[in-house]
Amino acid sequence: MKNIVVAIDGFSSCGKSTMAKWLAKEVGYKYIDSGAMYRAVTLFCLRNNLIKDGVVDTEKLEKRMNEVKIEFRVNENTGKSDTYLNGECVESEIRGMEVSSNVSPVAAVPFVRHAMVDLQRSYGEGGGIVMDGRDIGTTVFPNAELKLYVVASAEVRAQRRYDELTAKGDTVSFDDILKNVQERDYIDMNRAESPLRKADDAIELDNGLLTIEEQNKWLMQIFNEKTK
Ligand code: CDP
Repeated sequence: MKNIVVAIDGFSSCGKSTMAKWLAKEVGYKYIDSGAMYRAVTLFCLRNNLIKDGVVDTEKLEKRMNEVKIEFRVNENTGKSDTYLNGECVESEIRGMEVSSNVSPVAAVPFVRHAMVDLQRSYGEGGGIVMDGRDIGTTVFPNAELKLYVVASAEVRAQRRYDELTAKGDTVSFDDILKNVQERDYIDMNRAESPLRKADDAIELDNGLLTIEEQNKWLMQIFNEKTK
């Protein structure tokens, strides 16, 4: 069986990461959450006053990019991979609304993208990887053997994110989340540097109506065809 690269792109909160994590576990591949990397850079910006009202101080950030060290380490208790920023586990903090509200402007900065893409490619050497994000099939791994492009309506996605955050005990408003999802979609699709778009050879999946089981079955079938 071939060791392939699986690239899963799509809008925010459309179930990419659930899909990607499940597939990676099932087939024994590495899973990399590229969004977590942009989220970690955003947390660095917030902590160091490098972003204000959605505007990034690119001059200062560029000088300090060498201070941003991002890693993934497996959590012994959960078995899941956690995101570390300069040696500190930031997994929970990067998922909160403050980071979500600031991440898309940070992810639009070209030198931030170049640094993250280099890191993402280094993880993908030798294949055997599932990576999810916005530009994985178009920019990071244009030769990926399996590319998926996942879509779902903004309302379905906001509801999922709302359920996820309230289950964790966060107090959030559905309307704020919907607004955030729509704003991020807009910035992600309209930025100059590798905007979110479907790669020509990606398979599109509208998962708004699929259950997780249906989605997984479909995914495994395609994966088996590609690795034959
Ligand atoms: O969790 P959610 O699906 O909402 O987003 P994410 O995958 O954690 O990504 C957070 C943000 O990072 C996105 O809204 C994009 O602005 C940016 N991103 C990107 O530009 N390129 C990627 N490959 C992954 C994420």
